[in-house]
Amino acid sequence: MTDHLLPSAEGRFPDIWALADGIPGWLTEGQAALLHEQAGSLAPGAVAVEIGSHRGRSTVVLAHALRGGGGRLVAIDPFVDGRLFGGRRTRDDFERHVAMAGMDDTVELVCDYSTAARPSWTRPFGLLYIDGKHDYWTVSDDLRWRVHLPEGAPVLVHDCFSSIGVTLGILRHVLPSRDLRYERREGSLALFRVGRPTGRDRLRILGELPWWARNVVLKVLLRLRLRPVARVLGHDSPYDPY
Ligand SMILES: C[S@@+](CC[C@H](N)C(=O)[O-])C[C@H]1O[C@@H](n2cnc3c(N)ncnc32)[C@H](O)[C@@H]1O
Repeated sequence: MTDHLLPSAEGRFPDIWALADGIPGWLTEGQAALLHEQAGSLAPGAVAVEIGSHRGRSTVVLAHALRGGGGRLVAIDPFVDGRLFGGRRTRDDFERHVAMAGMDDTVELVCDYSTAARPSWTRPFGLLYIDGKHDYWTVSDDLRWRVHLPEGAPVLVHDCFSSIGVTLGILRHVLPSRDLRYERREGSLALFRVGRPTGRDRLRILGELPWWARNVVLKVLLRLRLRPVARVLGHDSPYDPY
């Protein structure tokens, strides 16, 4: 992120997107707008939980929407080492980006695995954003954080219907559930809401499976360096669909 991202983060979504878009990450503008809308619709003083913060791209968007009403964002990320996620350097970037966006009074960092923090968690909150480790087992555990949410609260899941692990977690734990209903998605960012699902809500989850299959095929094609074939399927980017 460059130094033009100064603490000018009061105001509407476009203002914070101008900041957030300079932070490396995977969140698209439409997805950020959905996060901002949902966090902005919480009651004043609300707390939101983000699992998987990385360099802070989604963190500053959520925090910005909460801040006006005196809310807080708990950002959970162990900053795992490795080529993809970058460890200590990523944590330094995260802290710098949150401070540069003027959000360090709104964001509380829990530097831990979501799966380690969950069993002893007691604090209620009003929004859950899941974008941590994308394997089936972690996503299954992350979905259990919803027990702390009230009726009607939003649960947002990134890489839903694009990642195999995330989608299997949704099919196993949300499709048959009685307390989480599917509303809509923006790209791979799916919005669920705490509440009893109807048969139609469940069918709409199943209706996303062709899109999921397409995304899995695209990921395989990109790994095989078959971009021209991916283009035929309408994906004109070197990056995975998300
Ligand atoms: C896809 S990135 C998150 C991107 C971020 N939401 C953004 O908008 O840029 C995934 C992050 O999850 C973190 N992570 C991995 N395992 C985790 C776990 N069990 N709990 C919380 N975070 C985890 C990684 O360290 C990484 O920073």
